[in-house]
Amino acid sequence: MSFPDNFLWGGALSANQCEGAYLEDGKGLSQQDVMPKGVHAPMTAMPTADNLKLKGTDFYHRYQEDIALLAEMGCNVFRFSIAWSRIFPMGDEEVPNEKGLAFYDAVIDECLKYGIKPLITLSHYEMPLHLCQKYDGFRSRETIDCFVHYAETVIRRYHDRVKYWLTFNEINVTLISPLLGAGIITPKNELTQQDKYQAAHHQLVASAKATKLARMIDPDLKIGCMAASAPRYPMTCKPDDMMEMLNSQHELDYFIHVHCTGEYPYYAKRLWKENNVEVKFADGDAEVLQNTVDFISFSYYSSKVVAADESQYEMANGNIMRGLKNPYVEYTDYDYPIDPQGLRYVLNYLYDHFHKPLFVAENGIGAKDVLIVNAKGVKTVDDDYRIAYHQSHIAAMKQAIDDGVEVFGYTSWGPIDCISAASAEISKRYGFVYVDLQPDGSGSLERYRKKSFYWYRDCILSKGEIC
Ligand code: BG6
Repeated sequence: MSFPDNFLWGGALSANQCEGAYLEDGKGLSQQDVMPKGVHAPMTAMPTADNLKLKGTDFYHRYQEDIALLAEMGCNVFRFSIAWSRIFPMGDEEVPNEKGLAFYDAVIDECLKYGIKPLITLSHYEMPLHLCQKYDGFRSRETIDCFVHYAETVIRRYHDRVKYWLTFNEINVTLISPLLGAGIITPKNELTQQDKYQAAHHQLVASAKATKLARMIDPDLKIGCMAASAPRYPMTCKPDDMMEMLNSQHELDYFIHVHCTGEYPYYAKRLWKENNVEVKFADGDAEVLQNTVDFISFSYYSSKVVAADESQYEMANGNIMRGLKNPYVEYTDYDYPIDPQGLRYVLNYLYDHFHKPLFVAENGIGAKDVLIVNAKGVKTVDDDYRIAYHQSHIAAMKQAIDDGVEVFGYTSWGPIDCISAASAEISKRYGFVYVDLQPDGSGSLERYRKKSFYWYRDCILSKGEIC
């Protein structure tokens, strides 16, 4: 079976990883502007010159060129996020920053010019720094109203041109990295499980309120949740490892469950009890959570191996989703397992559990690309490893469609190189397009098509048939 004709093919970026222009046209600071080393070092008091995100890959000034490159590959969807601090520089203003709104008008119109559907993430690891400082992000309920006001502002502005929306990027990361996921600046080791689960509840309420509003503004909109997937595998068939796998899998399912059913899952009570957590509901929370999503989107980079006793096994470095070394798969330059079958598995798993249409919102390989000059004198990257990665993952997605799973789109992560989320580096590149930006911040910012650029174009042109 082939991918359906109306399948959405494209790429995904986030504002803080590509836009730059961190103070331009009235933008306020976000937590990303003071995280020069991502989650690997403490925040700084003020933005510092070593923070590559301040300049990003200059999407703010080069969006026309970048969208033209997406169009050249044949993309019909572009997932990007809005920088909340461009619209509300402090986060708690009444009146939005018109210049910020105008920028996204221009980005959306540029997409539509090429027949590319915009898919907008409202918050991708980013909130106005003022809200992080004043409220400790989503630790406080007050942040819910600020988010909802922001969501209402942008949905009202763009709903006639943007049909697909996601509320929070990888919402389950709040429990792993509260600063990235929920704008909580209190250091992670000073937070209790109560703090994290309560913040997650506030975010879930904010997500449901935004979903409710979106439907009131325009019933034709399609609203999705977004979670980091990494399906869990048990290290052995020991019953204890199986139970560990189940419990660990719940970290992902917990958030999707609330988004899809409007209620916490049956295992939440036990989870809360074991973690000494009592999630406090305000009046109306239970009702508002009933505003469930239309579809589930998720990122998939790899599967994750767990065991009841992890001390006896080797750990893979990976990223924030790191797990034990899987002896049956290959690893990337950055120690991520390469496991295309895990994508087929997670697509089946999610569809089986939640019966909602699925969208693969991120997938890709971060690698240390080398820019070369080929025989024709053209600068490019010979990234056969990237072609192999996407080919095998798209083939796995095709198998899931054959299995009967309803998948309606795929956006590769960082189709144009961008700054990494976890480590704020540029050396880890995911793109089909190389951006000349170097780790010390030098570089012309010129864009060069990698070998994979032409492969992805052919893949889309063939509707995935070449995979
Ligand atoms: C996802 C995030 O977790 O992984 C992206 O949504 C991120 O923002 C991507 O860039 C890859 O992670 P990293 O740390 O390699 O950039």
